[in-house]
Formats: sequence, structure tokens, C-alpha cells
Amino acid sequence: MQNITRSLKNKEKISILFVCLGNICRSPAAQGIMQHLVDTEGLSGQFAIDSAGTYGGHAGELPDKRMRVHAARRGYSLEHRSRPVSESDFYDFDLIVAMDDSNYDTLRCLSPDTDGQDKVVRMASFCRMHPYYDAVPDPYYEGASGFELVLDLLEDACRGLLDELSGK
Ligand code: 4NP
Repeated sequence: MQNITRSLKNKEKISILFVCLGNICRSPAAQGIMQHLVDTEGLSGQFAIDSAGTYGGHAGELPDKRMRVHAARRGYSLEHRSRPVSESDFYDFDLIVAMDDSNYDTLRCLSPDTDGQDKVVRMASFCRMHPYYDAVPDPYYEGASGFELVLDLLEDACRGLLDELSGK
């Protein structure tokens, strides 16, 4: 277990920000899956879940149509509007979850202080069924299988993250 998740175990409400590049594929899907998981388990009141991108070029947009279609087939409705990461996110959130190494490095550079840097973790580190992945790969230039892989990895990592935060 990572130090940052251990330190959150007894917190009344935990805020999580999922981050990718554009905030239209991976991170809004992670947000939707995690929200669905906590809602299903009656834990909605104990979590605040959001997502953002390190690149602001898609700000205001709904998730990519391909991501919405693939997610809907698994029962997730993605309605988040893309937004860029802001400095206040490093104070407002307990945990900032990066989809890949590039997002991770960018987030640590953007953080105003070391407390914020310590909140940045890798999504793939919570995967249990897919231990050989160290990142959730960018599906933007991939076909349908790329989006399905992203959803497989995100479902696995969200389960792992929730279990870790619940002390399971
Ligand atoms: P995401 O995917 O980071 O998972 O939202 C991408 C979305 C947009 C771009 C790249 C990746 N883009 O180059 O615009």
C-alpha cells in the first residue's frame, strides 16, 4: 500500500481527481467508473470524485464520442465537461491519479509544493488483474480495442483503489 492512501484510510470524506492529457477519454471514464462503484456500494457520501486534463485544448467538451459509446455498453454514462488542472486542485484534492508517466511528470511539475506532489499517484499502480501495465495507454489514436483496454484497466484500478482506501 502507498503512504498517501494509507494516510487517507480513516478520513471521513476522500476527494479524488483523475487526470489524463485531454480529459475527454481516460480520466472522465475513470471518474464515471469510480462514481458508479461508490454509488453501487452506498459510499457516495464518503467520496468526492472529479477529473481534469494537463492540456486544456478540449475545455468544455463532453468525453470523446468513442469513449462514451464504449463506456455506455458497460453501463457508465459519462457527462463530465473537460477542464484543465488548476493550481487549486493540489490543495482541494486528497489524491491526484495520473493515467500515464507523462501525466504524472507534468502534474508533479505543476504542483505548487511538495505536499501536492505527494498526492500524485499512478492509476496503473492500483491494478490487480493487469499487473504488467504501468500506465493506462492513450486511446485517442487507437481503434475500438484501445478503448476496451482502457476500460478494462480502469475497472480493475478503480476496484483496487477503492479496496485500498477501504482497508481491504
Ligand atoms: P485523454 O485522450 O488524454 O485520455 O483524454 C486524449 C485526448 C485528446 C488528445 C490526446 C489524448 N489530443 O491530442 O487532443
